[in-house]
Amino acid sequence: MAPKLMNAIQYFRYGGGPAALKRVKVAVPDPKADEVLLKVEAASLNAFDWKIQEGIPRPILPRKFPYIPGTDVAGEVVQAGSSVKKFQVGDKVLALFSHATGGALAEYAVAKENMAVARPPELSVPEGAGLPLAALTAHLALTHAGIKFDGSGDRKNILITAASGGVGHYAVQMAKLGNTHVTATCGARNLDFVKGLGADEVLDYKTSEGASLKSPSGKKYDYVIHCAMGIPWATFEPNLSATGKVIDLTPGLGAMMKFAMQKLTFSKKQLVPLILFPKIENFEYVVNLAKERKIKTVIDLKHPWSEAEDAWSRIMSGHATGKIIIEL
Ligand SMILES: NC(=O)c1ccc[n+]([C@@H]2O[C@H](COP(=O)([O-])OP(=O)(O)OC[C@H]3O[C@@H](n4cnc5c(N)ncnc54)[C@H](OP(=O)(O)O)[C@@H]3O)[C@@H](O)[C@H]2O)c1
Repeated sequence: MAPKLMNAIQYFRYGGGPAALKRVKVAVPDPKADEVLLKVEAASLNAFDWKIQEGIPRPILPRKFPYIPGTDVAGEVVQAGSSVKKFQVGDKVLALFSHATGGALAEYAVAKENMAVARPPELSVPEGAGLPLAALTAHLALTHAGIKFDGSGDRKNILITAASGGVGHYAVQMAKLGNTHVTATCGARNLDFVKGLGADEVLDYKTSEGASLKSPSGKKYDYVIHCAMGIPWATFEPNLSATGKVIDLTPGLGAMMKFAMQKLTFSKKQLVPLILFPKIENFEYVVNLAKERKIKTVIDLKHPWSEAEDAWSRIMSGHATGKIIIEL
């Protein structure tokens, strides 16, 4: 049985970073018919969490204040809504919440049955908590690039930018399950780390060679899984194959306009904005890849609940290596 009140972290306005995160006691949410109530064991942070606080997607998100941030959790089912069939009390699950509701930075949270997956015993709580948004995004981008994770299909040259980050480190591992040659960019301190994930070539983005994105072996990229920001089209363009595409995971207005213009002019090289609309079958798929040890969650740092603000500073810094975990 869940208590009536729980500890949670909320913010009440845009901006303010970690100092604006307030520790509060609020009512434990009531699961609807198609939801489960979870006792949260761990949450992971994503770059979009701090962007919502900064008001970058305003006025769409958050829908209202106060807002409990976070979308990714590992937890235990303590109550199941009346129509829930997949789970029962005591089940260990991984869940992805919508950005509209958030809710991860709390002792208890409600998850839709259709956005929760059983956590296999092979996956620890932090390993599981790292997966939802980042691994699903990597999976979606690579699927868009036509990568088949059983190694079949035509060979493709892939560039992955910010390969040391939450999305990027899963993207490198998943890309190498396919028939690919992977070039990756990261900072100098992570060159060996990203090679260890399976990348064939690694570029330090702070060197002039890295900034040019040129493959050391002269390959032209069929697809770029673009997890970094602020790289102009003019830098990508000469490095693409004749029909090369840049899948932009942080598309701004400029990217949307470039995409529209390239469509209108039937350009063969294209910038493709991509936003995750998660599907449960893909969630199950990536959890299974992790269960089978085909991909792993690399953890930047595990923060106790009492130091969640430090975790927030870390994700805001943009310098995480892998995933940032908050344990409850
Ligand atoms: N479209 C969608 O649906 C969707 C879903 C999820 C995430 N995203 C977006 O995808 C992006 C990546 O997310 P994330 O969670 O992976 O971020 P993250 O974990 O915060 O990425 C941090 C890593 O990126 C590296 N990095 C930063 N700038 C770089 C550059 N120019 N070149 C190479 N490496 C660089 C950093 O290395 P150093 O420390 O060495 O600088 C650090 O290791 C974010 O913008 C996020 O909002 C989009």
